[in-house]
Amino acid sequence: MTYVVTDACIRCKLMDCVEVCPVDCFYEGENMLVIHPDECIDCGVCEPECPVDAIKPDTVPGLEKWLALNAEYAKIWPNITIKREPPADWKEWDGKPGKEAEFSPKPGQGD
Ligand code: SF4
Ligand code: F3S
Repeated sequence: MTYVVTDACIRCKLMDCVEVCPVDCFYEGENMLVIHPDECIDCGVCEPECPVDAIKPDTVPGLEKWLALNAEYAKIWPNITIKREPPADWKEWDGKPGKEAEFSPKPGQGD
């Protein structure tokens, strides 16, 4: 099992999650983060830290697509362990439907 970052993170990217992960398994894209499923130890500490409720355990039904995306991009995006300023307009994207269309495959800057 692993925890998964879902589409709710896209364009919010608050980064509170990275500060609490004991194994530093978050990876940064241009507008969202992902969790490396082979590195996550399923501690669950990050889930309540996300202000927009973007992190879920993979036991939640229907997350297969996001689990695959986390696994794919965790291999190629840079590691992130230190929170920076979130996007200035993150509140406008909190809870917005259709955020999947906003996903960017580009890497973020990492630590
Ligand atoms: Fe890190 Fe624990 Fe969250 Fe997995 S569940 S990403 S190990 S904080
Ligand atoms: Fe994304 Fe929530 Fe972390 S918005 S960057 S999963 S704190």
